[in-house]
Parts: sequence; structure tokens; C-alpha cells
Amino acid sequence: MKLPSLYLRPSLLMASLVIQLITVVVASGGGSGTTSSTAAAAAAPTKKYNAMFTFGDSMDETGNICVGSSNKTELNVLTCTHPPYGETYFGRPSCRWCDGRVVVDFVGCKGYVRKSLFMFGAYGGNDYNVQLLERGLTPEQKLIALGAVHVVVPGIFPTGCLPIFLSLFGDGDADLDDAGCLKAYNLLTKYHNSMLRKQVEALQRRHRNSTRLMYADYYGLVYQMVQEPHKFGFSAPFEACCGAGGGKYNFDLSARCGMDGATVACRDSSARLSWDGIHPTEAANKVIAGALLRGPYCTPPILS
Ligand SMILES: *[C@@H]1O[C@H](CO)[C@@H](O)[C@H](O)[C@H]1NC(C)=O
Ligand SMILES: *[C@@H]1O[C@H](CO)[C@@H](O)[C@H](O)[C@H]1NC(C)=O
Repeated sequence: MKLPSLYLRPSLLMASLVIQLITVVVASGGGSGTTSSTAAAAAAPTKKYNAMFTFGDSMDETGNICVGSSNKTELNVLTCTHPPYGETYFGRPSCRWCDGRVVVDFVGCKGYVRKSLFMFGAYGGNDYNVQLLERGLTPEQKLIALGAVHVVVPGIFPTGCLPIFLSLFGDGDADLDDAGCLKAYNLLTKYHNSMLRKQVEALQRRHRNSTRLMYADYYGLVYQMVQEPHKFGFSAPFEACCGAGGGKYNFDLSARCGMDGATVACRDSSARLSWDGIHPTEAANKVIAGALLRGPYCTPPILS
């Protein structure tokens, strides 16, 4: 099954942030990077849903953004269409913003049952604004009205810990917290997430009998990964694996991963948290997917 894509292009710093509507239908074996296939989900032990619909931004992009256009000039602007994107898993750029698979690839459904899992996000802040402010509806309400039963709503990542923001705003007298993240940015993210969580809990109560709503605490999980990277097998949590400029962040806005000057990734992306300074590596996505499926950073966990 394939649904039409919905492209909204928020005007933030990346032309590539999209709100996408994808269907991940189960195919067995290795995903080939097309829109409707998903990679073999090493992290998904049980068969529970026959389809998954994800509404998200570049964090969850599985290739729709490239399917939506055949204009090479237009696609060429998207750095995710250039190596070394995709080098860890697909062996070529798959139009994912990652060296391999993203979270929904790992959560995605092997096998079949009757139900569908809806995953709402994680959205970048700007995507959120487009939906909530310009469209005047909450996405969850709309979905529930359409009859969705299983809905995961993730909060957003601790933006103050991202190499992109740290490299741009983390110099000199920047106010960093104990973990080394930008306090003000994380404060904003925490505020956003707390409002989101409240809304999710209210919806959980209101639709208790008909809908299973789950809140995924991306902030809590990723922040823990930043604080104690070694527990998760990572080092240098603030250093982009693929980027330019070296130093603590290895991020240069004018030479982002896939652009001239940043065409080679670090030697071992599986030991890194940040792939391109904005998006997590496949290894980090796998950890996140596991936490969504089994907890404790998803309330209740998808597989509970
Ligand atoms: C392709 O995209 C570029 C950049 O947006 C535009 O200038 C050009 O006219 C497009 N070509 C076609 C055939 O639509
Ligand atoms: C939910 O189901 C319970 C038991 O069947 C019922 O008593 C209650 O009124 C229902 N609540 C709503 C909001 O429909």
C-alpha cells in the first residue's frame, strides 16, 4: 500500500526538512531504500502490526523526498543524495539523512497482523509550527478521528546537544550545561516536549477506550546518550562523523556532509552518535528504536 506524499517545506535552515507521510509495508529481507520498503528490522522481535504510517521530518525520512521529484537539479541540492550517506547499510545514498537506517526502519513491521502503528514524528520545531499554527489542528486529533488505534508521539531531541547548534552558538561565553550542551536550546526543547507530553496525556485519557497513545521520550534517551556515551558504545558524542572543520564538533555549515570538503565519513560510524551533525547515525537510531519498542523511554512501550 502506498499513500500520496505530503510535502510541506518549512523555511528553516534546511530545505530538506519535510513532513512526510510514508507507509512502511513489510518486505522481508534487506530494504533497498525505496519508499515503501523497510530494512530487516534487527531490533524488532515481535510481529504486531502490518503497516506503519510515519509522519515526521528528516529524522524519519525513508526516501519519499526523492520520489517526489525527478528533477535532478532539485535533488542534487539535497545532501542526502550524495555519498557518504547510506554507506553503512545501503552502500549508496538512499535519500535517508543517515549512514544507514533510520528509527522507523528498525521499528518497522516484519510479518503481519491486522493492526497498524502510527508514529508521529519526531518533528523538528519548525515542522511542528507549520502543522499547529498554520493548519489549526493537532495531528493526533485528526488521526484519532480517522480511526487510528496505535499512535506513537515522540518528543524532539535535545537540540542544544546537536553539533550544528553547538558549532554555531557554542563558542566563547555560551552557557553550556554539565553535559556540554547549550542550556537555552535544551530549555526550549524541554518546554516544547513538556507541552506535547501534556497534550498526549490528555488525549490518552480522553480516548482511553479506543486508542493506544504512546509518548516517546527522545529527549531523555538522547540526553542520556550524550551524558554517558560509553554505556551505549559511543564516543565523542558532539562530533559529527561526517562533516568538516575538525575540532570538537567537526561541523561546518558550508561544508556539510555530502558537500565538497565533507565527502568522507569517520572510520567507525557505529561508535558515533551524530552522523552529520544534525541526524543520528544508524547505530544511534537502532538504540532509539529498541527503546521505543521495549521502553523505558516510551510510555507505554510499543511492544507492551
Ligand atoms: C528543476 O529545478 C530547478 C531548481 O529548482 C529549476 O530551476 C528548473 O527549472 C527545474 N527543471 C524542470 C525541468 O522543472
Ligand atoms: C470506557 O469504557 C468503560 C467500560 O467499558 C466505560 O464505563 C466508560 O464510560 C468508557 N469511557 C469513555 C470515555 O467512553
